[in-house]
Amino acid sequence: MTTHDATIEEALAALRRGEAIGLPTETVYGLAADAGNPVAVRRVFDLKGRPADHPLIVHIAGPEAMDAWAREVPDGARALARAFWPGPLTLILRRQPHVPDEVTGGQDTVGLRCPDHPLALELLRAFGGGLAAPSANRFGHLSPTSAAHVRAEFAEAVPVVLDGGECRVGIESTIVDLSGKTPRILRPGMLGREVIEAVIGPVAEGPAGDSPRASGTLEAHYAPRTPLLLLPREALRVEAEQQQTLGKRVQALVLDMLPEGLPGLALPADPAAYAHGLYAALRELDARGANLLLAERPPAHPDWLAIHDRLRRSAAGSVAGDST
Ligand code: TXA
Ligand code: MG
Repeated sequence: MTTHDATIEEALAALRRGEAIGLPTETVYGLAADAGNPVAVRRVFDLKGRPADHPLIVHIAGPEAMDAWAREVPDGARALARAFWPGPLTLILRRQPHVPDEVTGGQDTVGLRCPDHPLALELLRAFGGGLAAPSANRFGHLSPTSAAHVRAEFAEAVPVVLDGGECRVGIESTIVDLSGKTPRILRPGMLGREVIEAVIGPVAEGPAGDSPRASGTLEAHYAPRTPLLLLPREALRVEAEQQQTLGKRVQALVLDMLPEGLPGLALPADPAAYAHGLYAALRELDARGANLLLAERPPAHPDWLAIHDRLRRSAAGSVAGDST
């Protein structure tokens, strides 16, 4: 079977057969399956090559569907859903007993999100249930932000991909855990802490000792194949020259404009525009056959927090000059 742009009807039929499909959202593309069907969810883990104890986000059509999946929905969770759904925000809540262990990784919690994408919302409304969907990349790879990325990742293994164009946000949703005493941001996203605190008051940030597993918290996640170093602009130029003198092929990812003579790509010095282009840029640089990627460290400002997080993970596990 060859891949083509699937229709909503084809996507629905595939989901009802227990298959996984490529789903556009405003953050990144998901690999979606019926969250109520454990066999279908296991297929998603197989396709991704992801450890089975990593929980998946359940995508739902709106706040009114929260109670079908969560047995306890604190006021703060309802307020956040009202304020930011559909949108790039995932809420971790205590799960209903019927939610398959395959979805929750066997935990007592479930992650819920209503994506802000017209095709995803149309599909969810027609489907009626929830869609368990991790990002549509193989485990540890970069997340896809276009239908072409999903096809490149899975080809015939996932024949049904809904093409919803380029993802507007470009990096994964902000995850807020509301299952404990204090709300906590488990994974930063472009929906920042300030706007969340404006709705529910103070939130903690970063992993707590007893917090649930989030694979987004593993280092060496979201990694290009080529080793990546994160450096301030001046150090980047010096490093590039030294590596080139050693005969290494270097590609740079810089803010604003590429300095003359430095091969690579530039992304806008604006956090929203940068996030939108980040994964596609890393994919393109990765495909250029370099020995080393050098990324300019963005400004140390809260608006760039989620981008720092993804760049740091992309660089984790890389050793300069390591690859040939
Ligand atoms: O923007 C997004 O969130 C995208 C799109 C497709 O919605 N999805 C995404 O899924 O990034 P994934 O599986 O790549 O990352 C989901 C994260 C993981 O870090 C997972 O561990 C965490 O959400 N997660 C899901 N359910 C959880 C739970 N019950 N407790 C703690 N973390 C959970
Ligand atoms: Mg992912």
